[in-house]
Amino acid sequence: LRTIKVSDDDFGLMTYDPAFTNTASCRSAITYIDGDKGVLEYRGYPIEQLAEKSTYLEVAYLLMFGELPTTAQLQDWEQGILKHTLLHENIKHLMRGFRYDAHPMGVFLSTVGALSTFYPDAKNVSDANVRLEHIQKLIAKSPTIAAYAYRHSKGLFYVYPDNNLNFAGNFLNMLFKMTEAKFEVNPILERALDILFILHADHEQNCGTNAMRAIGSSEVDPYSALAGAAAALYGPLHGGANEAVLTMLRHIGSKANVPDFIAKVKKGEGRLMGFGHRVYKSYDPRARIIKKAAYDVFEVTGTNPLLDLALELEKIALEDEYFVKRKLYPNVDFYSGLIYQALGFSPEMFTVLFAIPRTAGWVAQWDELHRDPDQKIARPRQIYTGYRTRDYIPMDKR
Ligand code: ACO
Repeated sequence: LRTIKVSDDDFGLMTYDPAFTNTASCRSAITYIDGDKGVLEYRGYPIEQLAEKSTYLEVAYLLMFGELPTTAQLQDWEQGILKHTLLHENIKHLMRGFRYDAHPMGVFLSTVGALSTFYPDAKNVSDANVRLEHIQKLIAKSPTIAAYAYRHSKGLFYVYPDNNLNFAGNFLNMLFKMTEAKFEVNPILERALDILFILHADHEQNCGTNAMRAIGSSEVDPYSALAGAAAALYGPLHGGANEAVLTMLRHIGSKANVPDFIAKVKKGEGRLMGFGHRVYKSYDPRARIIKKAAYDVFEVTGTNPLLDLALELEKIALEDEYFVKRKLYPNVDFYSGLIYQALGFSPEMFTVLFAIPRTAGWVAQWDELHRDPDQKIARPRQIYTGYRTRDYIPMDKR
């Protein structure tokens, strides 16, 4: 548009689209969303089918390569990842340096960023083989970092990864193993966690992925870019919302207090966390799957009283004109925290549990960026609203 000028002095046309609500920053063949119909597909496969039939590592392969793997391809891919689950011992020392009460998400993103200093060859981002090696490292190491962050916050010893276990089982083992005895992972809980990982793996150009692409477009290494993406996810309007939902439910306290709370939200005193989405203007399909998975988990762990409160909140909000008019429905974060809590996680870990699987989406999008000849360094323009040229005023004249 800037080339449409009436004269050489003319600045040309520029679009002004704050927060890019109507601007596509890239072309992508990874994830499709129809926000009005509540459709989410990875590489054309509906999220409902993937959640029912696939596994997280298979989905990570699909996001990355565009097709479902054969048995041999999946084996290769999984082995390529599982061999990288260990962290360098110096990373352990680094993590020990964080305050005992450091937020695990702050620990996660700082540690991922620090990995760039351990793998200097990762900066060769134009080499597809180098990219693949570090993509596998990132997918492999993210649960180990997350588990260490958790155990650090609890003052517990670190548990090394056990590559005889599957991805979710290994993660649960690193988190919750307390003695030398074998830690028995409940298969229903392990599957529920894997489903949550599938649902969170990618979501086109959300704030974190946009950060991954924007930072990656400078051709920095993937660890530095992913630290930035994780920082974006940390915020309460993004991945931090699942933690905020639990805080909100606890604050509301009982079903009787729901109408008062809704009235406050409508007056603009805070938001109903876990509701609303930039793209979905109907029910988030992930929230529907999570709600169902919650019942499977509660059958094992016993019901969570906050579930009743959440159901009541959803019922009242979905009948209220304020929410109906603005098309505000539960999003992925509304019910995920309840499952995470039932699985034994404290709320500070919730966003980290989002970051682990989103790593698969971030690296797939990052790889796609580097394969796209149209991509340049992300560098939006601005509408300048400040002063034009004026003279410096000496201190005694101000
Ligand atoms: N509670 C109450 N009102 C809301 C909510 C909410 N959760 N979300 C939006 N609104 C209202 C806004 O106040 C605004 O009302 P107005 O038109 O009278 O001013 C209208 O709905 C539109 O809201 P925007 O902020 O313009 O919508 P946007 O697309 O920018 O925001 C967002 C999307 C950030 C997700 C928002 O809905 C929100 O803050 N939700 C709560 C936090 C949350 O759950 N985040 C997780 C999102 S999913 C994810 O990141 C994985």
